[in-house]
Amino acid sequence: MVRLTINSKTVEVPEGTSVWQAAKSAEIDVPTMCYTEEAEHFTSCMVCLVKDVASGRLFASCSTPVFEGQEVITNDQETEESRVAALELLLSEHVGDCEAPCQLVCPAHMNIPLMNRLIARGDFAKALEVVKRDIAIPAILGRICPAPCEAGCRRKQVDEAVAICHLKRYSADADVGNATQFLPELALPSGKKVAIIGSGPAGLSAAWYLQLKGHQVTIFEKNDLAGGELLNIGNEFLPREVLDQEISVILSAGAKISLNQTIDESGFSKLLDEFDAIIVAIGTIKEGMPIFGLEKGSQGITVQKNSYLTSQPKVFAIGNALRNSKMAVRSAGQGKEVATIIDNFLKTAVVLPYQERFSSKFGRLSEFEFEHYLKDSETAPRQHAGVEGFSMEAAMTEAKRCMHCDCRNPESCVLRKLSDDFKISQRRFSTEERKPVEKLIHRQGVVYESNKCIKCGICVRLTRQYKEEFGFTFVGRGFDVKVGVSFNEGIEKGLAKTAAIVAKACPTGALARFDEEEQI
Ligand code: SF4
Ligand code: SF4
Ligand code: SF4
Ligand code: FES
Repeated sequence: MVRLTINSKTVEVPEGTSVWQAAKSAEIDVPTMCYTEEAEHFTSCMVCLVKDVASGRLFASCSTPVFEGQEVITNDQETEESRVAALELLLSEHVGDCEAPCQLVCPAHMNIPLMNRLIARGDFAKALEVVKRDIAIPAILGRICPAPCEAGCRRKQVDEAVAICHLKRYSADADVGNATQFLPELALPSGKKVAIIGSGPAGLSAAWYLQLKGHQVTIFEKNDLAGGELLNIGNEFLPREVLDQEISVILSAGAKISLNQTIDESGFSKLLDEFDAIIVAIGTIKEGMPIFGLEKGSQGITVQKNSYLTSQPKVFAIGNALRNSKMAVRSAGQGKEVATIIDNFLKTAVVLPYQERFSSKFGRLSEFEFEHYLKDSETAPRQHAGVEGFSMEAAMTEAKRCMHCDCRNPESCVLRKLSDDFKISQRRFSTEERKPVEKLIHRQGVVYESNKCIKCGICVRLTRQYKEEFGFTFVGRGFDVKVGVSFNEGIEKGLAKTAAIVAKACPTGALARFDEEEQI
């Protein structure tokens, strides 16, 4: 056995063990990207650098064996800086969108391409599940949203934007209209209570997500009907039964509602005594309206950036109470975000701002790149929805027009995760200076996008290990080296046996499952 110290902790491991494995055995986390236990190792990414205390040298922990008496540091400023430099180098060549442009501009940040793929294959229940992760009131918003996501849709550069809003409505209507209303699994009751003042889109959305997280919500509504500013919308745009049905779905998660209940200053003090957190979602602030002693600016109640915390502890404010907006989806998005913040606050007593994740973006597509994006899309024109919305056939055709601009591996991509952990920002490329984007699609297996590849060679070694007839190989030399199928064969031949294996092992979204079962 060999004895060494890592971050001053004594570790004993068998001879021949790598420093990275020794750290792992002591539960010390050192990131890796190019290392996998499933294949022979080839050092390339350099995110696993650690420091030898005696010499002050940095070395790759994944491929360096331990020695007796060695002292290693894995987490000082220099090692952290070296990881940042390694990641920045990988990102300097990386061309990919973690999220589609439509999702980035949606105020609720809905996973639009995933919804489209599910509708396209007729899996409407799963499509609704995906929608409801971000939008609590899709049947309502599917009728009244001005669809800022469609303004960001890339398909507009080919013909017309994908009818995202109608597709969301279609997935919701299939549920609202039937008895098996969608209700995901609820967390165990936390014993915490949250009061929400106001039952407009912001208050309803916050109620849904808090209730799912196990907190008991009570909504206080001054009118005799729930809906807030949604009640001002004409029946021809938002039929009352749609509003009522969607509110009843939200209440089915266990939220209570108290109608005809105006909260004045003294009522507010009582809520402060009785509840663990309060959300003020009272809509546009008008002259003379009680705002419970909270600080106010020219637009509405003042809150801390990204946390919605007002000038009073445990009191949060969302929706038009902050700033008048015609977009109910903005309020709905804030309802979801504040629920995450309050959930954390109720568990830890800390108010942490809502975190934006690292998101690689490359901007506009060139003519050549559209051909690659359209390979995965129908040429049909935009489908038109009648008063009743889309028929099933029209919804499926419309969903197939989507070009799937997102990355197929955004949740398990290690490059994204580490870039997020180390707060890296990627500079934007212009179309002229970056490498062109291409997609190779193996419909029963994977999507391969070489511009996201970090050339770790894991796929090359795995296809060799599994004895693929063609497999993946390094093509070209120097800076222009790429990973591709041997003898220029098609991807179906290259990954005949190993598509699922290499997609799982790839540390980025360069090789990702085409059917993405695992993400859903
Ligand atoms: S490979 Fe990773 S970093 Fe790149 S676009 Fe996909 S998720 Fe984002
Ligand atoms: S084509 Fe699809 S993924 Fe791309 S922006 Fe439009 S809806 Fe989003
Ligand atoms: S495609 Fe292959 S070489 Fe490129 S990142 Fe994925 S596993 Fe590594
Ligand atoms: S994990 Fe060590 S060099 Fe990549």
